[in-house]
Amino acid sequence: MMKEKWWKHSVVYQIYPRSFCDSNADGIGDINGIRSKLWYLKELGIDIIWLSPVYPSPNADNGYDISDYYGISSEFGTIEDMKKLIQECENCGINIMMDLVLNHTSDEHTWFIEAKKSINNPYRDYYIWRKGNADNEPNDMTSCFGGSAWEYSQETGEYYLHFYHKKQPDLNWENEKMRAEIWSMMNYWIDMGVRGFRLDVIDVIGKIPDQKIKENGPKLHNYLQEMNKKTFGSKDMVTVGECWGADTEIGKLYSAPDRKELDMIFQFEQMQADQIEGKQKWDLKPLDFIYLKNTFAKWQRELEGKGWNSLFWNSHDLPRIVSRWGNDKQYRVEAAKMLATVLHGMKGTPYIYQGEEIGMTNYPFSTIEDFADIEAINMYYERKQMGYSEKDIMKSLCTKARDNARTPMQWNTSYQAGFTEGTPWYHINPNYTKINVEMALEDKNSIFYYYQKLIKLRKEEDILVYGTFELLCPEDKHIFAYIRKWNEKIWIVICNFYEKSTEFLYSGKAKVILSNYKQETTISLEQIKLRPYEAIICELI
Ligand code: NOJ
Repeated sequence: MMKEKWWKHSVVYQIYPRSFCDSNADGIGDINGIRSKLWYLKELGIDIIWLSPVYPSPNADNGYDISDYYGISSEFGTIEDMKKLIQECENCGINIMMDLVLNHTSDEHTWFIEAKKSINNPYRDYYIWRKGNADNEPNDMTSCFGGSAWEYSQETGEYYLHFYHKKQPDLNWENEKMRAEIWSMMNYWIDMGVRGFRLDVIDVIGKIPDQKIKENGPKLHNYLQEMNKKTFGSKDMVTVGECWGADTEIGKLYSAPDRKELDMIFQFEQMQADQIEGKQKWDLKPLDFIYLKNTFAKWQRELEGKGWNSLFWNSHDLPRIVSRWGNDKQYRVEAAKMLATVLHGMKGTPYIYQGEEIGMTNYPFSTIEDFADIEAINMYYERKQMGYSEKDIMKSLCTKARDNARTPMQWNTSYQAGFTEGTPWYHINPNYTKINVEMALEDKNSIFYYYQKLIKLRKEEDILVYGTFELLCPEDKHIFAYIRKWNEKIWIVICNFYEKSTEFLYSGKAKVILSNYKQETTISLEQIKLRPYEAIICELI
């Protein structure tokens, strides 16, 4: 068995600082805003805050384009505020996990400003340059935000690589000096007291553009082992790598403890269950529920005793789950609790994205002007040019755009949902009068308190953390059910994923541990009628 680690019992809460809480009325969430809400996170019971980037940035990609790894953006506060946040978190038993964007910097980072000046500049090789002429790109690799991955640089007549926006030039990880600078910077944050790192798109740092290799390049794991050794390896920290391109074998390479790379991975295979295979996320299809269940189950099975996974439905990159695969109308509360049950009952470390714990929903966008995200805006114009209809494009955007997750946190029914006393940087979802923290805290049956119970269970019940996993009724079109086993205990998680009532057949009797509907303390499993979005965690007796 793997050695026990604190972060296996932990639950992570992701904060997107720009949209969490604004303390100085400039309309942008900030560090002091987060400090003012630590009581709330404590009440929820989470252990780790994943803090999306707070570094100086020109915000071409809302902070995922860093111009100074050592600083704090003035929009968010000062380094002193950050130190206070770390200290106050420590005082209340919460650990900070910093978001590190190491695949690229901003083009306004001094390294890049230097690098583009001349071919001989000492920073030139920190980035990836190739010859070409003004209308001939080095190859046909594309950017995730649309168009070519190469941008022509007038100064030297060469192209630089950017897998994301052209204001996010890719770093050259082959360069040892550049890597050494990254290690120093990571140690600076470790010394300041952060207890973890979330590594943005870490699966692409080993790229070999000349061979068109993007994810999982041959040296990727060497770099991670070097990182581990030079920075967090000897510390009691938590690390998670974002990898879009991982299968279960690759997942083990990152997270098997004896390989000394990262603690866990954050992979997206299950989140592709409503996208046409081989196409983009915008190419929608109805949820393939069987695929969803089997993909989760595959990761549970394959990583058993060999690696560790993150469990999530949401992030700042994904639409709101209750709108996506739940129900954001009549059964919003039931569906949100059911989705939480499916996820938190599995093996891995659960992540909650701000607002998920009160069942925040997608935003009712009506025109392209409603969007702020570069990804959405680029996609709109690209698809327009390709001849897609306005209706189809808007449908994809309303369903999948990242802006759905980025609307400000809904704290109460007052001015601007209590997020700011000024003008918010982005739209507040008009449903804040019905969906907000204050109302959730006043209602003992709220989604908030259900999450609180799930988080508490993970701390108290080893079976949730260490128990084995077995999917039940994999072909059932409505029910997501599985068994967890640990020592003598057997737990069953039974969830109706849909609005239509259905039946679940098993045998024996069980004690109810948690449910989103009223239940008897003991139930017979011979034939359970499951109501819309009903979820039950029970223990076989
Ligand atoms: C993944 C981040 O989560 C996303 O928000 C960002 O746009 C890309 N990486 C590029 O940094």
